[in-house]
Amino acid sequence: MDEKKAPKVLICDDVLENRKLLASTLQRYADFDLTIISDGTTLLSKVEEIKPDIILLDIMMPDIDGYEVARQLKSNPATASIPIIFITALDQIESKMKAFDTGGVDYISKPFSPKEIVIRIKNHLRLSEMMSGLEAEVRERTRELESLNYALVLALENANYYSDIETGAHIHRVNYYSQLLAQSLGLSDKEVQLIARYAPIHDIGKVGIPPNILKKKEKLTPEEFDKIKEHSYIGYKIIDLPGIPSIAKNIVYYHHERWDGSGYPIGLKGESIPIEARIMALADVYDALRTVRPYKSALPEEETVGIIQESSGTHFDPNVVDAFLKNRSKFDDVFKRLSQLDKFNKE
Ligand SMILES: [Fe+2]
Repeated sequence: MDEKKAPKVLICDDVLENRKLLASTLQRYADFDLTIISDGTTLLSKVEEIKPDIILLDIMMPDIDGYEVARQLKSNPATASIPIIFITALDQIESKMKAFDTGGVDYISKPFSPKEIVIRIKNHLRLSEMMSGLEAEVRERTRELESLNYALVLALENANYYSDIETGAHIHRVNYYSQLLAQSLGLSDKEVQLIARYAPIHDIGKVGIPPNILKKKEKLTPEEFDKIKEHSYIGYKIIDLPGIPSIAKNIVYYHHERWDGSGYPIGLKGESIPIEARIMALADVYDALRTVRPYKSALPEEETVGIIQESSGTHFDPNVVDAFLKNRSKFDDVFKRLSQLDKFNKE
């Protein structure tokens, strides 16, 4: 049979008699695995090694008081979830409030009733166990949703790829370019992750454009160009679903907007264009300039950089161009490294 381990209880009190009394009480009424410490500094240095299930903490201690010990425990992710019960002779309401403010789950005044303290410890251990069970479940569900979401994005990327709208390499490169720009512009980790994830489907709307126009080698007529422009809106309609983040929708809908307002589909100007779309615009154009398209040959790196620099403040957000220039060699590395994928056959 699986035998459950005795819960680890850590007692921290500077007075020897108090430690003895607490330890003998707990040993008499319950099966706990006790660790006894006489000061806050030792507790903080050893707590990660001991890994207690609960801490009984005195407030008035000579080196660091219990409030400060609790504050430090709560600010460390490794120890933040350990429940702390303050045990002290202080009985004023302010002391109790402060104990809860610093992260204590309970407060027991001395002299305490032995049975009461054991019951309270057991209750908090049970609550803490339930909380960590719930947290683990939420983490698991979040992971499942994340991987489902990621799989759906990949499915859309594949639709793009197999319909011959984009090469696999372009899809992967814009993922890296947009990540480099978003990081360099100081966006949050979450924003960087979302921008990089959804950048590869910026042109998903091209599935709704007739292939004879999309792949035409000759110059497009104004009507044909108008048709191509519809891909932003078509893409937006494809992904305009509950649960798809706005970053994804903005990338798809606004990636052909220009800083000076001369882009499409709306003609938004400057910072009214969402930053993720301003990033996408540069990442997309950089890659397009450097690769062969039905209507053009590939440009060398230097010429590509020159065109982007010249378009700062007209086509592109000047801040995004600055971020690009700082990462110019990384863009070149990504381009060269991931161009190999273009040579693979679709199977
Ligand atoms: Fe596009």
